[in-house]
Amino acid sequence: MLSAASKTFFHFLAGNQGLQRLASRYGMASPTGFARRFIAGETVEEAIEAARGLEGRGLSQTLDYLGESADTLEEADNATGMYGQILDRIVESGIGRNISLKLTQLGLDVSREAALANLRRILEPGRTHGFFVRIDMENSPYTDATFEIFQALWADGFTNLGVVLQSALFRTTQDLPRVVGLGARVRLVKGAYKEPAEIAYQRKADVDAAYVMQMQYLLSNGTFPALATHDVEIIDAAKAFVAKEGIGKERFEFQMLYGVRRDLQAALVKEGYGVRVYVPFGRQWFPYFMRRLGERPANVAFVLKSLASEK
Ligand code: FDA
Repeated sequence: MLSAASKTFFHFLAGNQGLQRLASRYGMASPTGFARRFIAGETVEEAIEAARGLEGRGLSQTLDYLGESADTLEEADNATGMYGQILDRIVESGIGRNISLKLTQLGLDVSREAALANLRRILEPGRTHGFFVRIDMENSPYTDATFEIFQALWADGFTNLGVVLQSALFRTTQDLPRVVGLGARVRLVKGAYKEPAEIAYQRKADVDAAYVMQMQYLLSNGTFPALATHDVEIIDAAKAFVAKEGIGKERFEFQMLYGVRRDLQAALVKEGYGVRVYVPFGRQWFPYFMRRLGERPANVAFVLKSLASEK
């Protein structure tokens, strides 16, 4: 994790329209475009190809069609329609049926009811075709609405739906047993967004300590938890905990981001752990990409190096 100030800086850049236009022109333009390390491509075909490559190496995957907030109901409707097409293409391709999505993309900023209805439109064919659908967790203004929509759909029998909990937020201590009590699948993350000190830990050590406690709770009580982190110390702590408690490797999975710690992903597969890679794709890749840069300064050097070698 970066310092809070650097996180703020990269989040500021993520919202910069001029920079976004410039990056969009070059980042994915060639097969060596600097964003390709973290983004599978701009089309679903490219994402499916990346997913096939991962599955060929013993990893599983979840596809994420990138796009953040829809400003109008029409945009939200388009994104929902796009998800329908993506599901069809995934089924045709024969890759694993697992997607991740964001509720603001489905219209949460415009209307909660519309976002719920749009998610239902994705879940219905998803359930028929055996998809698992994960709602990514966005920043704290959306936490309550995300849980409410999740719970309404869960109560309607959509148990092919899972959520994400962020260890950085103080409230996660209370949210965790509630979601686990339902029997829903949780992905545990540290939290990618800059949050105020009144509601979230600011120091890495505090976030990590919360993560380890919540991870142990999930491993003992949760339904197939997903431990989404690249943090080797935490991964080692998970391995030690499951060995001590006699929890089988088939009862949980690790998750990592596309292009991040590929060495670690492969090593865990070799040791017999399940590892799912989050595969983002789509034309609106810039904010996601900036969040990844914000997590690790070395990524900025990586981008600059690949820009230099493009010349
Ligand atoms: P931490 O940031 O402490 O990093 C530990 C080590 O991992 C670093 O020292 C470095 O070696 C490596 N590393 C981490 N990030 C890297 C990067 N970008 N590039 C290269 N190396 C890196 N967040 C959220 O708020 N809502 C969500 O829905 C999700 N969803 C999600 C799904 C999946 C599959 C993953 C892996 C992560 C998320 N996240 C997320 C992001 C998460 O909250 C967090 O910001 C990142 O995973 C980085 O935190 P780490 O746990 O890896 O630890």
